Amino acid sequence: MRHIRALKASLLIVCLLVLLTTGCQEKDSAFNFQEDINDKDGIKIGFSMGTLQEERWQRDRDIFVARAQELGAEVIVLNAYNDNEEQIRQVGYLIEQGIDILVIIPHDAEKSTDTVHMAKKAGIKVISYDRLIRNANADLYISFDNVRVGEIMAEELTKEVPTGNYIILKGAPTDYNSTMFYEGYMNVLNDYIERGDIKVVAEIWAKDWAREEAFQCVEETLEKGIEINGIIAGNDSLAAAAIEALSEKRLAGKVAVVGHDADLSACQRVVEGTQLMTVYKPIEKIAKAAAEAAIKMAGGQELFVLDKIYDGKYEVPYLMVQPIPVTIDNMKNTIIKDSFHRMEDIYINIPEYLWPKE
Ligand code: BGC
Repeated sequence: MRHIRALKASLLIVCLLVLLTTGCQEKDSAFNFQEDINDKDGIKIGFSMGTLQEERWQRDRDIFVARAQELGAEVIVLNAYNDNEEQIRQVGYLIEQGIDILVIIPHDAEKSTDTVHMAKKAGIKVISYDRLIRNANADLYISFDNVRVGEIMAEELTKEVPTGNYIILKGAPTDYNSTMFYEGYMNVLNDYIERGDIKVVAEIWAKDWAREEAFQCVEETLEKGIEINGIIAGNDSLAAAAIEALSEKRLAGKVAVVGHDADLSACQRVVEGTQLMTVYKPIEKIAKAAAEAAIKMAGGQELFVLDKIYDGKYEVPYLMVQPIPVTIDNMKNTIIKDSFHRMEDIYINIPEYLWPKE
């Protein structure tokens, strides 16, 4: 009893400290995974990736694997190529291989619930990485503040284009992140729409984040003769497709487009003026934290994560990292400063005398 009271008191102190240090600002979740990881050589981690289609996922994979190996773990990585059945099969294979913990980027938020049941039945804990698995009670969710990602995008676009016609290119309907991003857009846009300042003239879900669907939507809207003033693209790949459709009508750079992920080509478009902004999600933070958490959890160590997310049925501990808006003005102090991309790559099409100075 005394033990429990002491634990509660120390938890309360942790909570108060976190509140005091964070104040009202949005901050990353407090976590200390890298400290006191028990020496646990020989842990086998299954890393099941729903896709490697977008540029970012290679970075996620590489940092995750490097950090896990540095801590003495072995990682088996499998890519399901946007196929839910395949992902379920692959998780079955990983369990057969004797993994101690499953880290999964689900292709399908709802249907991948089965993978969590399979792992739990085999006594294996599950980390839902970047994308949430719904109704499944995963042991941990590690991602960015995805509603905030959407809000940042809409805030930047409405600053530039406070009135006019918008297109919203949502991501894959099977990816719960698309829903969270959309919630963020609408948190900002609702007032503008109610006032009649902004009109959403077209809105689609892009199956499997397919660029062709984004391209087609913008092309069709233009062909109907509808004026477009702003485009919210679910990520930088969809933004690239939208800008391609605009450029066919010589409108690239004339219609404000926002995306996210800080892909290299998106950063280039931002400094070249065809994309208004992107959002930088510091992948290194979540990939390292996921590797550290996986090893701790596999070794039976407790994690204290204060944030939670409702997965439709259960409250899941949520390690949340804050996204950062990136425009031409802060490219140097964000993306370049963090070595996410190099100045010479971002500014490749711009004469050197125009590059930002020290
Ligand atoms: C991620 C984005 C990514 C998209 C397509 C989403 O779940 O949050 O960063 O661009 O999937 O893979």
